[in-house]
Formats: sequence, C-alpha cells, structure tokens
Amino acid sequence: MNLADEQAKLTLNGNDHDYPVLQGSVGPDVIDIRKLYGQTGAFTFDPGYKSTASCESALTYIDGNEGVLLHRGYPIGQLAEHSSFMEVAYLLLNGELPSGDELADFDNTITRHTMLHDQLRQFYQGFRRDAHPMAIMCGVVGALSAFYHDSTDISDPEHRTISSHRLIAKMPTIAAMAYKYSIGQPMMQPDNSLSYTGNFLRMTFGVPAEPYEVHPAIEKAMDRIFILHADHEQNASTSTVRLAGSSGANPFACTAAGIACLWGPAHGGANEAALNMLQEIGSPDRIPHYIERAKDKNDPFRLMGFGHRVYKNYDPRATVMQKTLREVFDALNVNDPVFETALRLEELALNDDYFKEKKLFPNVDFYSGIILSSIGFPTTMFTALFALARTVGWVAQWNEMISDPGQVIGRPRQLYTGPTQRDYVPVDKR
Ligand code: SDX
Repeated sequence: MNLADEQAKLTLNGNDHDYPVLQGSVGPDVIDIRKLYGQTGAFTFDPGYKSTASCESALTYIDGNEGVLLHRGYPIGQLAEHSSFMEVAYLLLNGELPSGDELADFDNTITRHTMLHDQLRQFYQGFRRDAHPMAIMCGVVGALSAFYHDSTDISDPEHRTISSHRLIAKMPTIAAMAYKYSIGQPMMQPDNSLSYTGNFLRMTFGVPAEPYEVHPAIEKAMDRIFILHADHEQNASTSTVRLAGSSGANPFACTAAGIACLWGPAHGGANEAALNMLQEIGSPDRIPHYIERAKDKNDPFRLMGFGHRVYKNYDPRATVMQKTLREVFDALNVNDPVFETALRLEELALNDDYFKEKKLFPNVDFYSGIILSSIGFPTTMFTALFALARTVGWVAQWNEMISDPGQVIGRPRQLYTGPTQRDYVPVDKR
C-alpha cells in the first residue's frame, strides 16, 4: 500500500487531527483511523460496515459501479471462460496461475484428501432425514477439527496448508453425503479417477448398483458455477471466517462459522430463496404484483437474487450464470418456464424507476437456482453448493490474515445507549 500525499483532517471538540490516507493498487483510498480513539476518545460509527475497510487484502477486487470482479487481477469472465475451479483455487491460495505441473500436483493433492474419516459418517446418523443440508454442513465441518489434530497449529505454515487442502477436498464429499442422507440412498465414496467436479457429481447422483457417466457439459457448467462462487472480497461469511480466525480458532471451526453465516437468505441463502420466489410467482402475468410488493416499504418481501451491497451495476457473475443456464438447457434439451419468468422479471425490474433509482440488479443468486434445479439438485442443496465453492475463498482469506505478522484479534466497539449506572432494588421494593 502507498501513503497519499494529502492527509484526512478531522476537527472534534475544537481539536484538529490528521490521519494518513492509504492507497491500494486500485479502488477507493482508506483513511487510517487506527489511532483515532486514542487521540480523540471517540469511535467511528458504521453499522453494517458500509464505509469500512476491515483489512488489507490482495485476493479479490470488486468495482461495484463498473461491475468488475478480479481474482488476483484476472477478470471473472476470463476465468469462467478459460480456467477451472481447481486452477482458480490454486490462484487464490498462491497468488499466481499455476504451471501445468503445479496444477497437476495441486489437483493430485486435493484428490487424495477427498475421503472422510469413516467415523465422520456416523455424524449424519444423528440428523433427521429432513435436516437442512446447511445444518449438516455446519455440524460435520465443525467436527472435522476433532479428527485432524495434526493440522490445527495455525502458527505452523505446514499445518495451515494441509488443513486448507483438507477443507477444499472434503467439502464435496460432505455436501454429497448430506444429499444422499436426505434421500435415504447409500453414501458414495470418492473416485480418484474423476475431476474434482466430476467426482462431486458422481458422489451426488451416482449409486453403487451401476456405473455413473459424468455428463461433460454438466461437469463444465458445475465447475464454472464453483468458479463464480469461489471468493468475493470481505462479504459477510468471509468476514465471519476472518473474525473467528483472528482469535486463533482452528480453520475447521472458522469454516463452520462461515457456513452458518452464508446460510442467511440475505447472503448465500438467496439462491434457494430466489428459486422459491420465482416458483411462487409462477407465471409472468403475476410479476407486476410481486414487483409492487418489493417496492412496498410496509411489505417485508424483497426480490430475492436482486440487489447487492457492493454492485450498483450488473453482477458480472450473473451475466456468466445466465449464459451457463442457456448452455445447460441446450445440453439437457430442457426448458423450464421458470427461466422465462426470471427473464421477464429482470426485464420489468430493470425498467422500473424504483430499481433503477436504487441501482438494484440481478446478483449471482438470481439464475443459479434454475441451473442447479435443472441439473437435479433440490432447492435445499443450493446454499450447500455455494458453501462448497466459497470454502476456497474462506481458506485463502483466512491464510492471508493468519500469515500477516501484524494480525490482531478483531474486537469492534459500540455506541452505548442503554441505562447509565443505577443501584440494585430488592424485589420487595420494586
Ligand atoms: C450474496 O456481499 C457479497 O459479496 C455477497 C455475495 C457473495 O458472493 O458473497 O455477493 C453473495 O449474498 C448476494 C446477495 C444475495 N441476497 C439477495 O439477493 C437478497 C435480496 N437482496 C437484498 O436483501 C439486499 O439487496 C442485500 C442484502 C443484498 C444488500 O442490502 P444492502 O446493501 O444492505 O442494501 P439495503 O438493504 O440497505 O437496500 C437499499 C435499498 C433499501 O430501500 P430504502 O430503505 O433505501 O428505501 O434498496 C432496497 C431496500 O429496501 N432493496 C430492495 C432489494 N434490495 C435492496 N428492494 C427490493 N428488493 C431487493 N432485493
């Protein structure tokens, strides 16, 4: 980072204070207020962190006004078109695109960590069959820390690397087993002869009684969907992983915390909510009613899959997602009327003054559910797939934070508006 020529000036209670302005390689400058409380006795106030940079990072850059998303400088559209999820995972973890040998070695390492400890399979038995897969993911991923004591010393780079590889490798197995458990089918073991994504598809949709042919177009589409969900700067779940990690918690526990946060419908749960919404709307003629509901301040209904804290333009991932949807429909020779409803909803919303004024565009979650549903995933699995892919971003962001020698525990303060000190009153005097 660089120091800007000009400092930020603050006058408080008649005193002037200067604060350094730091510049990144691209994007907004930041005002370094680390000494503000010590110098002024005041805190800043920013619920939801809408104007706060919580950390320095070199992983992912988003320009919300221009609809730009870069991973280590590479545009998401180029990565989605030319790369693979394993290559993007390597890029996020290591900072550069791998050579052919480096990618083969990384892929081989991940492949050989996809198997779960056999006792972990017992954890599934404790859940009801209709448990939400995200509840299972929270539980089983958190439990990993009870099985890998050999890789929870976060001060040891080797431990950090092996636990990162284990998390990335085992998420498909854990997610596929959650699905199998929910439908009462036998859980499938990984097949090391398949790609990361092909292995996941087979563990999810294959059965022991017969061979499973990975559909190349579906494998490619699924791999691209994983790329689109890999990382996204300091979103709520990534910030959760960073905050949990800042206390020194092990990466398995931190990832479980990230899964819990991602589950929310305002965040990763929006893909499930968006398809449910589109199915509830049913047909294009009912869209105006729902758009009016979304605009009504007295109605809690929102267009799920629309709007974003950072993107005030079209989410570049949504563009790729819509293209992928058309490819999957062509490959499967299907056509889902929900897609027509989604396209019409997007068209009407983008031409509505409310959505234009508030800069609400489709986000990554608007089309993803339609694709996943056409491939055969139940709606309840959508956020589990998001968590599977975002584990790459979570462990990369966690590694970046833990590797920073200046890293300290995150501990925000508050604006207190509760009662000032008062004496206890015995119950017979109240
Ligand atoms: C993800 O952060 C990330 O990077 C997340 C993510 C990632 O990859 O990690 O990109 C993944 O979470 C995508 C977002 C998925 N969520 C949804 O699709 C749920 C629906 N969207 C909204 O709930 C909302 O847009 C948020 C939560 C995504 C963003 O909310 P903000 O930035 O806090 O904005 P806001 O709630 O303050 O809304 C601003 C205005 C409000 O109106 P006013 O109070 O100013 O009058 O826009 C309105 C909101 O009511 N608004 C919507 C709306 N989203 C915002 N109105 C109708 N429908 C919507 N979807």
